[in-house]
Amino acid sequence: MKVLITGGTGLIGREIVSLCHKEDIVVNYLTTSKEKIKNESNYKGFYWNPQKGEIDKEALKDVEVIINLAGATIAKRWTRSYRQEILESRVQALATLYKGLKETKHQVRQLISASAVGIYKDSFQNYCEEKDTIYGDDFLSEVVQQWEQSAFEFKTIGIEVAILRIGLVLSPNGGVLPTIVKPIKYGLGAIFGTGKQWQSWIHIKDLAKMFMYVLHEELEGVYNAVAPNPVSNKKMTQLIAEYYKKQLWLPNIPKNTMRLLLGKMHILLFSSQRVCSEKIQERGFNYTFENLKPALIDLLKEEQ
Ligand SMILES: NC(=O)c1ccc[n+]([C@@H]2O[C@H](COP(=O)([O-])OP(=O)(O)OC[C@H]3O[C@@H](n4cnc5c(N)ncnc54)[C@H](OP(=O)(O)O)[C@@H]3O)[C@@H](O)[C@H]2O)c1
Repeated sequence: MKVLITGGTGLIGREIVSLCHKEDIVVNYLTTSKEKIKNESNYKGFYWNPQKGEIDKEALKDVEVIINLAGATIAKRWTRSYRQEILESRVQALATLYKGLKETKHQVRQLISASAVGIYKDSFQNYCEEKDTIYGDDFLSEVVQQWEQSAFEFKTIGIEVAILRIGLVLSPNGGVLPTIVKPIKYGLGAIFGTGKQWQSWIHIKDLAKMFMYVLHEELEGVYNAVAPNPVSNKKMTQLIAEYYKKQLWLPNIPKNTMRLLLGKMHILLFSSQRVCSEKIQERGFNYTFENLKPALIDLLKEEQ
C-alpha cells in the first residue's frame, strides 16, 4: 500500500511515517523545501508550492490514501501578513491537491486531514463534541472552519474524508512540551492566568496510532484527536513540576503580560477547550495514554 503525506516532514508527520514503515506501507510526501527531498524505496519526496498551485503529480502515482498535515506553524507572532499565511498555507495546500487529483487518473479513495480543537468556542464549561455546531468566532476557529471546508470538498470528487481535530500534541521532540518544560525544570515555572483553562492534550504516539486506525478502518467524518482526560493548565504545570521535583513559587502570569510579549498569539495559552474523545473510542480506538501523568512519565524520561 502507498500513502501520500503532506507536511510529512513535521512533528506529527515523522511519527506517522515511522508507523507506516513498521507496517511496510510506502510513503510519498509533498514538501515545500527542495532540500528535504529524499528518494528511498519506501520514502520518496516530491516538491510542491501550494501558494502557486504547483504540484508534482508523480507524487500521486499508486497512492490510495492521502494524509494532509501541511500548514505554516501557528507558534510564530501573528502579524497581519503571517495570519494570512497561516490560513492560506492550509487552504491552498488542499486546493492544490484537489486540482492535482482532478487533473490526474488516480486511485486515491480516502483523505485524512488534520484539523484542530481550536475550532470550538473558548469555554470553561462546554464539553466539546464533534456534533457541536457553535464554533468560536476568533481567528484560529475561523482558520480551522475554512480548513475543514476545503477538506470536505474532496467528497465531490468521490474521495472519503476523515478529519482529526487535534489537541495539544505532546512530544519530547518538538511542539509545545519542551517549551512548557524548560522554565519549570529550572525552577521558574508558573501558571498562566487563573490556570483554570482546559488543555485537551494527546500523546504523539496515540495521535500517530489514531491516524493509522482511521486509515485501516476506512473511517470518515470528524473525530476529536485528544486523550480521554483533559486537564487544566494548573494541573499540567503542577504535574510537570512534580515530575522534576520543583516548586511553583512564582505568581501566576497575567494575560496582559503575555499579550505584550506574544501579541495575539497569547490566546493559545489562555484559551480553554475541554474536548471529548468518546466518538473515536466508540469506533474501537484504544489509547495507550489516557491520563496525563503516565504520558508525561513516558515523554519526559529521556529529558532527565
Ligand atoms: N502539533 C500540535 O500540537 C497540533 C495541534 C493541532 C493541530 N495541528 C496541525 O497538524 C498539522 C501538523 O502539525 P505538526 O505539529 O506536525 O506541524 P509542523 O511540525 O510545523 O509540520 C508542518 C509541516 O507543514 C509544512 N509546511 C510548513 N509551512 C508550509 C506552508 N507555508 N505551506 C505548505 N506546507 C507548509 C512543512 O513541511 P515541508 O517543509 O516539508 O513543506 C512542515 O513540516 C499542522 O497543520 C498543525 O496546524 C498540530
